[in-house]
Amino acid sequence: MILGVDYYPEHWPETRWATDVRMMRDAGLQVVRLAEFAWAKIEPAEGEFDWDWLDRAVETLASAGLQVVLCTPTAAPPAWLTRNYPDILPVDDRGRRRSFGGRRHYCANSPTYREHTRRIVGAMATRYGQHPSVVGWQIDNEFGGGQTARCYCHNCVAVFRRWLQRRYGHLDTLNEAWGTVFWSQTYDDWIQIEPPGLTVEKPNPSHVLDYYRFSSDSWVDYQQIQIDILRAKTNGAQFVTTNLMGLFSDLDYYKLAQPLDFITWDNYPTGHTERWCDTLYPSGFASEADDVSHAYDVGHPAITGLAHDLVRAMKDKPFWIMEQQPGHVNWGDYNPAPYPGVVRLWTWEDIAHGADTVVYFRWRACLYAQEQYHSGLLRHDGEPGQGLRDVQAMSREQPLMAAIQGTPVRAEVALLHSYDDLWAVDLQPHNRDFGYLRHLFTYYRALQRAGVPVDVAPPTRDLSRYKLVIAPTLFLVDGAIADNLRRYVEQGGHLVLSVRSGFKTTSNRVVDMALPGLLADLVGATVEEWRSLPPGVTYPLEITALSGQLVAVRIWAEALAPVSAEILARFIGGPLDGRPAAGLNRVGKGEVVYLGAWADDALADALLAWLLPRAGVEPVATVPAGVKVMRRVDDSHEFVFLLNFSDAVATVKLSKTGYTDAMTGEPCRPSVEVPARGVAICQRQQA
Ligand code: GAL
Ligand code: ZN
Repeated sequence: MILGVDYYPEHWPETRWATDVRMMRDAGLQVVRLAEFAWAKIEPAEGEFDWDWLDRAVETLASAGLQVVLCTPTAAPPAWLTRNYPDILPVDDRGRRRSFGGRRHYCANSPTYREHTRRIVGAMATRYGQHPSVVGWQIDNEFGGGQTARCYCHNCVAVFRRWLQRRYGHLDTLNEAWGTVFWSQTYDDWIQIEPPGLTVEKPNPSHVLDYYRFSSDSWVDYQQIQIDILRAKTNGAQFVTTNLMGLFSDLDYYKLAQPLDFITWDNYPTGHTERWCDTLYPSGFASEADDVSHAYDVGHPAITGLAHDLVRAMKDKPFWIMEQQPGHVNWGDYNPAPYPGVVRLWTWEDIAHGADTVVYFRWRACLYAQEQYHSGLLRHDGEPGQGLRDVQAMSREQPLMAAIQGTPVRAEVALLHSYDDLWAVDLQPHNRDFGYLRHLFTYYRALQRAGVPVDVAPPTRDLSRYKLVIAPTLFLVDGAIADNLRRYVEQGGHLVLSVRSGFKTTSNRVVDMALPGLLADLVGATVEEWRSLPPGVTYPLEITALSGQLVAVRIWAEALAPVSAEILARFIGGPLDGRPAAGLNRVGKGEVVYLGAWADDALADALLAWLLPRAGVEPVATVPAGVKVMRRVDDSHEFVFLLNFSDAVATVKLSKTGYTDAMTGEPCRPSVEVPARGVAICQRQQA
């Protein structure tokens, strides 16, 4: 399976289905996802099932040779269920019970909802768990979507208290970990602990971080109920997955992904670009070079790229796109429609970042309800839209897509990322412009500009395969994380740590040692002083060892006291005048750089220009603005993807020779011309 589509037979007269299925086949689609919101059609009244329509839909697809991914429909509990059991409805952090009429209106910790989940999932899996055309299952749909990751109902409170008892064992331990002596917050009975929603003034950040962790664990736990049923009823013959939302960070996707066969995510490049721009760029910085170089209708190649690479990290292997934008979306501010060819560009972008299968959302634009302005591959009238024409244009490319399937991405550089760190930093940013993902994104974009593909990885993973590891803010550090990094460096790894690393314990309290706390040994220096810089305030920094270049530091600055580290940069003028801002420490066979400054583009570029050759990382290509390069490689083959998001032809210089154009079989010239909003794929046998 390479390309597929999300189909809603329940939205269309049955007389149309045969036409739809024929058109799907003609377009070269091979897999169809069904039924994630169809609970009310499957079970119109409690205990009364109507399978006939779904049986016929599955058969119509199966008899045309299409494979089916079925979804459990738990993202949309029917009206009778919410009416009969109002207890299943979630409560928001203001204490308001949410109502029926949208979707995701349920609490993962409601025992009643869990019971109904077991019923509907069990019934569906019994009916289709052995069906030869059903290849797998998507559980639910986009856990946490519509701001539903955290519920504050009485069920959740009770489960939260039990979760805390398991974590801390004794209340004294919790009181100590949270620092409840502050403002008389001390608890002497578990029953006194509430969710952190309605406090006067800000709640205790340790309390909140635990509530975030608990909420995320609740979904992992809820998902497991469904996994167990599906595994039992399908004897493991059908895969089990769920669909994630890229940069969405209310759930710990590492934990959610762990028990699944592989992960999928829903990729809406223009929608995500509109939604994430403010989070990822500090206010007033939005005119930096790479922001304006891409065309308006293609989505931001770095935003989409980071989302892809982050999701791939969850299982560290190829994934699926379960929903790929097929034209315009309906939920942005402006919802631009892509030019002809952009759906093809996005499909190749998905594959370049590690997707093995791409499923378009949705088949035909819907005539009614919330998403009537969303495009499909077909227009409202059932005729082909531009999306379908783009898919048709890829039919000759499907054998190449098939040849790439399963090939890993295997980047040489990793960016460390953790949801605990993200939650803790963003709870107390201390500077409005200091965002966890924003900081990570600066380095991500710099690597993309340098033509170097990256992996994202959690700080606990074995890092030995990377030449360079960058941890922009490794905030909460325990012994296991510090040991893992030490092991990596001692064996020859290059590690970059930057501001606010080692600042806190995993309970979200500040360490009682010199910063960067448990990492100070590795860094060979301590942080003597840190400062948050308001907009307009910059500290000039001279990158002594690197280039002698002067850069202006914004947002955050730290003065170091070297112990064994060699000084790489100093502040010039201002309150930190003359003080070291960056150090290089040799540890075992490797080395550690600590950068005591929030890096903007110039500083990140200068750092990488010095560091990449030092770490032995060779760019895959030299890319002009608006172009990105990705690579998938195994022991026998290398595929290099050159993706042009600009509206002009771009020339890309490959670093190595010996490639052939994977589309034409002609040898690639060292300079490859990539069409506007287009792609080139270069292929080599591995030496
Ligand atoms: C996704 C969701 C789909 C649909 C789509 C519209 O987030 O899973 O059901 O709503 O967005 O872009
Ligand atoms: Zn709840």
